[in-house]
Amino acid sequence: MSDAVFSINGKRKLNGEVTVQGSKNSALPCLTACGLCDRGTCRLKNCPCLSDVHNTIDILEELGARCCYDSSAAVAEVSPETLFGDTIPADMMNRMRSSILFLGSLLCRKGEVHVGYPGGCALGARPIDLHLKAFKKLGVDVEESRGVIHCRIRDKLRPTSVSLICPSVGATENIMLLMAKSDGETVIRNAAREPEIVDLQNFINAMGGNVSGAGTDTIVINGVKSLNGAEFEIMPDRIVAITYMAAAVGCGGRILLRGVNPEHTAMCSSVLRDMGADIKCTDDGICLSMQGRPSAVKKIKTLYYPGFPTDAQPQFMAVSSIAKGTTVFVESIFENRFRHASELNRMGADIDVNQCQATVRGKEGLSGTPVEAFDLRGGAAMVTAGLMADGTTCVSGIEHIERGYVDIASDFKSLGADIDMKIV
Ligand code: UD1
Repeated sequence: MSDAVFSINGKRKLNGEVTVQGSKNSALPCLTACGLCDRGTCRLKNCPCLSDVHNTIDILEELGARCCYDSSAAVAEVSPETLFGDTIPADMMNRMRSSILFLGSLLCRKGEVHVGYPGGCALGARPIDLHLKAFKKLGVDVEESRGVIHCRIRDKLRPTSVSLICPSVGATENIMLLMAKSDGETVIRNAAREPEIVDLQNFINAMGGNVSGAGTDTIVINGVKSLNGAEFEIMPDRIVAITYMAAAVGCGGRILLRGVNPEHTAMCSSVLRDMGADIKCTDDGICLSMQGRPSAVKKIKTLYYPGFPTDAQPQFMAVSSIAKGTTVFVESIFENRFRHASELNRMGADIDVNQCQATVRGKEGLSGTPVEAFDLRGGAAMVTAGLMADGTTCVSGIEHIERGYVDIASDFKSLGADIDMKIV
């Protein structure tokens, strides 16, 4: 764990504007998709400067690709013509969950891969059985032994129809990557519908691929023979936008978030309106104003997109902890995603957790105290709580937060918050 903390003096209203960074959950699969390209260079704009992005680029370089990342311009360039490797060291796989997507892109390129199991936030078991089951059906032999996954295309990929038992984001993306270059039509049924899947489709198509249906529950991949370098702009990060919107509802004030696609935040905007926010869509983003203490909504249940995102549950729990009334959170995507609740309780919140349900009885306010970020969005919730609380909150474990937010302290500072990174 790093020695750096966020030190926050809370109770300031948020006022001002921020341009929202590029999406982590789109940048990572798109970077991985660069490994499919046969000729030329892929140029990804609005690619956020995050540890997970650096880790993905490290893997591409380890495999032999030439990569260049310009952090000030947020542009990544990947030239994969020299990508000859088929093995990813366990420690590189273990740094993040999305490393599992290299299974699809490397298999498609090399026909055989050896990788360890992916890491990522500790939110429960996070299996990859759906990925592997689909791969087997599509013509891949899979062996797992002593922490290594060995996959090999039997003789050739066998495009066919695959039905996912649940609409897994990662499994949908992995199948798209595996089958982008194949001989025939693959149909994914009960596919994930997240906007990041649409971004991946658009990038594959910009490289010369033929994928359609992303954003619906049926995706059709017409395999092509080869893919070329392309330039593509990563979508804005909807979860970062939602984090800042939730914080403004907890603190009060008026913020303008530039670059956000309001459609991507529609479910959360609807809940925040019920909590008392005034939210307007402008030509280039979202304007949110909030006065007074938020009202509690009775129930928030996380669901697959376009339902309420599990990645926003911790931040909304922080805001609900000071709302008028009681909110019941039901976490239906991940089994262990309430670790932030005990930290919020240490700040004076009143939250009971019972398996996948948390009951939050809103209090008048929270008190600043040292708290820990255990995972990425739980960490964002601790920052949100610190901004709302009386006194000083020190958030440790900020390396988790830095996996998903380019510079959360600067963003909140530009909205008028008193937050600094300190070395302790
Ligand atoms: C992605 C996001 C993550 C988000 C999650 C759900 C990225 C890099 N991460 O994660 O931020 O919280 O979607 O919106 O895009 N499952 C299985 N077997 C599998 C795969 C998944 O049982 O083989 C289960 C998981 O345990 C979980 C659910 O399906 O309960 C959803 O997981 P999935 O959509 O795959 O999430 P990720 O792709 O890991």
